[in-house]
Amino acid sequence: MSIYFAPAQRLRGRLQPPPDKSISHRAALLAAMHAEPVRIRNYLDAGDTNATLEALGALGVLIQHRPDELLVRGPGLREAAEAHGVIDVANSGTLMRMLPGWLAAQEGRAYTVDGDESIRRRPIDRIAEPLRLMGAHVEAREGRFPPMTLRGARLKAIDYELPVASAQVKSCVLLAALAANGTTRVHEPLPSRDHTERLLRRAGAAVRRTGFTISVDNADELSLESIDIPGDISSAAFPIAAGVLVRGSRLLIEGVGVNRTRTGFIEILRRMGAIVEGDLEPPAGADDDASAEEPVAELDIAYGPLIATEVAPEEVPLAIDELPLVALVGCFAEGDTIVRGAAELRLKEIDRIAGVVSGLRGLGAEIEEAEDGFVVHGDPAGLRGGVIDARGDHRLAMLGAVAGLASREGVEVEGMEVAAVSYPGFVEDVERLAA
Ligand code: S3P
Repeated sequence: MSIYFAPAQRLRGRLQPPPDKSISHRAALLAAMHAEPVRIRNYLDAGDTNATLEALGALGVLIQHRPDELLVRGPGLREAAEAHGVIDVANSGTLMRMLPGWLAAQEGRAYTVDGDESIRRRPIDRIAEPLRLMGAHVEAREGRFPPMTLRGARLKAIDYELPVASAQVKSCVLLAALAANGTTRVHEPLPSRDHTERLLRRAGAAVRRTGFTISVDNADELSLESIDIPGDISSAAFPIAAGVLVRGSRLLIEGVGVNRTRTGFIEILRRMGAIVEGDLEPPAGADDDASAEEPVAELDIAYGPLIATEVAPEEVPLAIDELPLVALVGCFAEGDTIVRGAAELRLKEIDRIAGVVSGLRGLGAEIEEAEDGFVVHGDPAGLRGGVIDARGDHRLAMLGAVAGLASREGVEVEGMEVAAVSYPGFVEDVERLAA
């Protein structure tokens, strides 16, 4: 489906962004790992997170859709059923990497996990290695791509150094660690999103952070009655960028999660001179264990002139999914906006460095590709516009739409329907705000 996004006069109004995708996946998984029923309020109803419910259903988890919540009855930590056939993660890299953390603990039972074309191009060696060290038997196509087959085992606790900052890989190890014998430690090169740690702590698990090391003790069971999911700041980032870029705009974003490990994009925008008011979660002290709760805020956005910025390496994991938007915003800023140290972007739903560089060039941007990022030569006169192909990537589709609203000639986005992977009501929301 191709949709044309005309230049907007301005964006005005309030927006409740969709529920957080990262937290939804984790909530459903942890609920399944708990042997008592868990209520989840505000679960994301989108492609990726519905794939998680389907996968859990195949593992013997009962999921009841009630008017305002999901009721999840899981088999508990070590009692997942052996699935009939392949477990399909669809387009979800988070599910592909986190679910095996639970499966690895299913002693003697075997599973095959697979996904769509995009998933099959994204390596899983980063989870295969720690799970093998813990004692699970893992095989992958060509040693590193899905489909993955896994046989659960009695797991050993490990001390593991993550090769790159990845919340997905970290979470996989932390989930497996619940069923291991003893205390598992994971060292991150840089802090990444900590939703798994917070939820585990809420569920009574012994999770601690010391510097860049997270440790978790094995647990006999979890204890968790209900989980409330805040709005997704990574989804809100698209209307926020539109509000910042379209002259005369003023937006109020309500009920959005502002966990300090997710707000890198807001900090970058503020440094570029954007008006984004609202209380973010303050930075943590060195050994400060984050609260178990997810902080929520209201953000007030207004249009204003922008200056270029350089994204620091430690900001990359805190804004990983928003770096394409940093490129777009950079197109409108005075000077050169630089993102480096972000080679991870090449392993997302598509190679997001190549996708963003060629996509934005097609709209008239001056942008150079680097192995691990890009440099945007901004122009306050903005972007011309044109046609962009989403290439099956939900975030590239939404970036194209925002580019259209802020451009001089508008943008036609080919393959816009893929936005439903994370933000099903996106087109309606931006059309309402631009009306
Ligand atoms: C996610 C972590 C990030 C992010 C992805 C969701 C998560 O991936 O890009 O969209 O929910 O843990 P990595 O942590 O692997 O970089």
